[in-house]
Amino acid sequence: MGEVATITIDGQSYEFPVLVGSENERGIDIRSLRKETGYITLDSGYMNTGACISNITFIDGEQGILRYHGIPIEQMAEHSSFVETCYLLQHGRLPTADQLKRFSSLLNEFSLVHEGMRQLLNFFPLHAHPMNILGSLVNALSSFYPHVDANSLTEAIDICAARLISKVRTLAAYSYRKANGLPVVYPRQDLSYSANFLNMMFSSPVNDYVADEESVRLMDMLLLMHADHEQNCSTSAVRLVGSSQANLYASISSGISALWGPLHGGANQAVMNMLSQIHEDGGDTQKYIDMAKDKSNKFRLSGFGHRVYKNYDPRARVIKKYCTNTLEKGAAKDPLLGIALKLEEQVLQDDYFIERKLFPNVDFYSGIIYKALGFPTNMFTVLFAIGRMPGWIAQWKEMTNASDAKIGRPRQIYTGAQTRDYVPIDQRL
Ligand code: SDX
Repeated sequence: MGEVATITIDGQSYEFPVLVGSENERGIDIRSLRKETGYITLDSGYMNTGACISNITFIDGEQGILRYHGIPIEQMAEHSSFVETCYLLQHGRLPTADQLKRFSSLLNEFSLVHEGMRQLLNFFPLHAHPMNILGSLVNALSSFYPHVDANSLTEAIDICAARLISKVRTLAAYSYRKANGLPVVYPRQDLSYSANFLNMMFSSPVNDYVADEESVRLMDMLLLMHADHEQNCSTSAVRLVGSSQANLYASISSGISALWGPLHGGANQAVMNMLSQIHEDGGDTQKYIDMAKDKSNKFRLSGFGHRVYKNYDPRARVIKKYCTNTLEKGAAKDPLLGIALKLEEQVLQDDYFIERKLFPNVDFYSGIIYKALGFPTNMFTVLFAIGRMPGWIAQWKEMTNASDAKIGRPRQIYTGAQTRDYVPIDQRL
């Protein structure tokens, strides 16, 4: 028998096997704990709890390492594309040229959405948040397209993945156009994934818009950087909802809702609002650092800190490089980049943040590029969701295929009232 963990309760010892991952992470397998001891564990926020065994993405938070099926994120950013990354996450290997061509053609084939869905946009108020619209429309996909659930995964994963990855981009662009009183721009068959998206977003009947190569490259890199991140809050929501055998679209819609929160994907919008506020407030970054350290103040520096990374988020390092090297003409004129760089420099030298191992995360610099590409701040989290789509699908598929697939149903420690009788209303005080 391999390594075991021993728990002693009331003088009796219980042994539980230790699972060792391919990167030597260790986990105590407590799946028989309650049956053997009558005890459960408590771990608010799942700080110490593994929810599953997965072979998709590896993160080493102490070293600041992120790999998609073993390939470092830095190499993916330099050599790969978002579409190739989507294939890698679904299949666990990079596609051959023919496989990539077929997957790309599926994305084109599924890029249109049912006109009924386009009309649904007319019923959202103009001020509706794009994440609210996206989550609602993705859920509505199961009314317009074949159900995709654990039992009826009738199509190859490529078709399910391509349909969702392609349509979510179209829906996001349509919602932006509608909110801004612009005619929708339909997807085209002759453009790459990211070029098509920029065209649907920013093309106009009165100008010859062509997304320049650099913008397409930046868009594709940002989508790729967000593609998966193991068991984060929104992916855990997708897995939990999917564990009830709810269909893929409903499960992903729950992930969109979880991502919206400012502690999670909503942070990229919160970062830009924070940088803008600091800029309007005269650029006094130290004032905001002091606010973030003041325990009587609920303010936190958005874009800093991470549940897993206790080192620099490798994605933030890559995105920052693109901000400073590639966006010279654009972001150099954007004072918010200067504020972000100054804020990071001061934070990384401040004992409060050093002691708590708080570093910039993926959301800290991404908004600078999104803004330079022309996106409104309230769409930033939608862009995160589009990037995360392949990861959510891959994780959902892995969960549905798991040999020990069970409905997720955590236990609790009850601290409420003990048993007492019902009191008729005329006897209540
Ligand atoms: C994403 O999980 C993933 O993988 C997520 C993600 C993905 O790709 O899916 O990487 C994407 O969500 C990135 C995170 C984006 N969120 C933000 O930038 C919001 C600001 N960050 C924090 O709110 C916070 O850091 C979290 C939510 C990200 C992590 O919170 P934890 O792990 O629960 O840590 P904590 O709140 O217990 O903080 C520990 C200490 C506390 O101080 P003490 O009580 O020890 O004195 O650090 C402090 C916190 O007050 N702290 C911060 C801070 N983040 C943590 N203080 C000031 N500013 C911050 N940003």
